Amino acid sequence: MNDGLGARTGAALPFLPVYQPDLSGNERQYLLDAFDSTWISSRGSFLERFEAAFAGVVGTPHVTAVCNGTVALHLALHALDLRPGDEVIVPSFTYIASVNTIVQAGGVPIFAEVAADDWLLDPEAMRAAITPRTRAVMPVHLYGAVCDMDRIAALAHHHGLAVVEDCAEALGSSWNGRHVGGWSDVATFSFFGNKTVTTGEGGMVIARDAAMLRRLQIAKGQGMDPERRYWHVAMGFNYRMTNLAAAIGLGQIERLDAILAAKRAIAARYRDNLAGHPFEFQARKPEVANSEWLVSLLLPRGADREAVMHRLAAARIETRPVFYCAHHMPHHARPDLRLPVSEDIAARGISLPSYPTLNMAEVDRVCEALVAAAAGA
Ligand SMILES: Cc1ncc(COP(=O)(O)O)c(C=O)c1O
Repeated sequence: MNDGLGARTGAALPFLPVYQPDLSGNERQYLLDAFDSTWISSRGSFLERFEAAFAGVVGTPHVTAVCNGTVALHLALHALDLRPGDEVIVPSFTYIASVNTIVQAGGVPIFAEVAADDWLLDPEAMRAAITPRTRAVMPVHLYGAVCDMDRIAALAHHHGLAVVEDCAEALGSSWNGRHVGGWSDVATFSFFGNKTVTTGEGGMVIARDAAMLRRLQIAKGQGMDPERRYWHVAMGFNYRMTNLAAAIGLGQIERLDAILAAKRAIAARYRDNLAGHPFEFQARKPEVANSEWLVSLLLPRGADREAVMHRLAAARIETRPVFYCAHHMPHHARPDLRLPVSEDIAARGISLPSYPTLNMAEVDRVCEALVAAAAGA
């Protein structure tokens, strides 16, 4: 599609993707060190160093690395020993892995509404969704924002529910100084290539105590007794991270503060530039230090999102729609269910280039193109 905007903004301008990792620290050297050591599978010093560095960031020693954020969620839910019919409350407005893994672990996802201001699990909707079959709740900290964990954790505690925070998108985010994951029985992170810290593919699971950590470690390694080779004491999987991935992760996490500072400056610039224009950002809560993983906003009601995204693409700027609601997916379809807030956000949201090496002139370029694209849609 060419509506003239591409020509006006110059097709020769550099392409701005939604994300690209910044691997400019020790990542390459550590990766080569791991390679040269021949410890290329799931043992090696980089795994220990990466887990230790991660533990320092989240403030608990009970961490174990896995091979992606989806198996992290499955491992976490597996450790809850769900019985058939056990219900897990989850927002429908989330990445699909949050929901698929509940089913994979034998549970029943119960879709709850999100709040209109921060797009995250609404504690009142959670309260309304609790039944005698509810076993757990999965708050999902989307785009670096943090769910109202004071209210969610209090409700979960009152009703005897397990908490599994999906922190895939929120490394570096905290609520009243407590890092995300800190309210959970088990919590999970992702290190996919577009995440704040990447290992290529990778994930982390954190546990509330040493006993839960041991269960996770055994289950991620085929259920094998750590003291007796080929003796399998529990159901298990191969969900281990490689030493190669951990080497990249160590190089990344060493620079976490710089990465977060860059992302926060980018997000602040987007908000400043677009103030006064008819876009809605996720609300900022005073309790939250937001990692600003991916800057996302809602287009005005009635705007043609596809047309806006096409115009931006013509200006060599990549954007993405936010997630579609899980209850609209064929395998989780609930034609009877209406979640107006989730459905509205899913229909109007887009994510903008947010990678840490994006410079301020490039943020300005995205903003100008977005304003022009939305005005024409
Ligand atoms: C909210 C959420 N949960 C889970 C995942 C799954 O992580 P991964 O892609 O590492 O499997 C993602 C990531 O993409 C995510 O955004």
